[in-house]
Amino acid sequence: MSTVAAKKVKAKAKTAPRAQASNASGPPPLTIALPRGRILDEALPLFKRAGVDLGAVEKTRAGRKLIIPIPEHDMRVLIVRDADVPAYVEHGAADLGIAGRDVLEEQDRDLYEPLDLGIGRCRLVVAEPEDRPVDEMARVHLRYATKFPELTRRHLQARGVVAEIIKLYGSIEISPLVGLADRIVDLVSSGETLRQHRLREVETIMQVSARICVGRAAAKLRSDRIDDLLARLKTVVG
Ligand code: PRP
Repeated sequence: MSTVAAKKVKAKAKTAPRAQASNASGPPPLTIALPRGRILDEALPLFKRAGVDLGAVEKTRAGRKLIIPIPEHDMRVLIVRDADVPAYVEHGAADLGIAGRDVLEEQDRDLYEPLDLGIGRCRLVVAEPEDRPVDEMARVHLRYATKFPELTRRHLQARGVVAEIIKLYGSIEISPLVGLADRIVDLVSSGETLRQHRLREVETIMQVSARICVGRAAAKLRSDRIDDLLARLKTVVG
């Protein structure tokens, strides 16, 4: 059994992954979906130390090229939004990807998560205005603003808190300051954004770091390539 299959997280039969079209000269290059931003910044040096130089990604960054061939490793990189990585991988448009635990658990897709890379570290927290703490026992109508409605729903349900969840797409920290929400559920890295907006952490929901995710079809059909890459990455992951 391959490493990927051995580390299977779940195997729900949902959408049937579409295999990538192969070309006449053999299988297509191994395709990796990478998210823009901090995870990409930290992933490139990690891959380099693992002997997989994705320097072409760095070089094409200034431009708008989003599909980057890496012929020396028979690979190609897709540059996508972080929340879109799981969709590319689940549907087989990418063989594997890198996504934060926050995104993976929010979407709960049919993916293997064989390796935590330990990069993109942050935490998902509940926060509220320093000068307007919420009394959960007061039984008033509470509103939580977040980019992660599903994780928030699960957290509140586990605590027996009934509240309205407002889905936002960014700048979550301003929502309690302008009367949109009582609390937020958001990612904290340095803590600077919370400080700037006079918000205090109430509790941590989960520690977050970025993981390799692999689709069901790729785990079966490309296990040699994927296991080789995972073995290389394991040697450099702390
Ligand atoms: C993320 C997160 C916080 C901020 C935390 O936002 O949602 O707002 O970073 O970082 P800090 O603790 O180091 O201040 P992002 O930069 O992705 O922008 P967004 O608000 O548009 O989601």
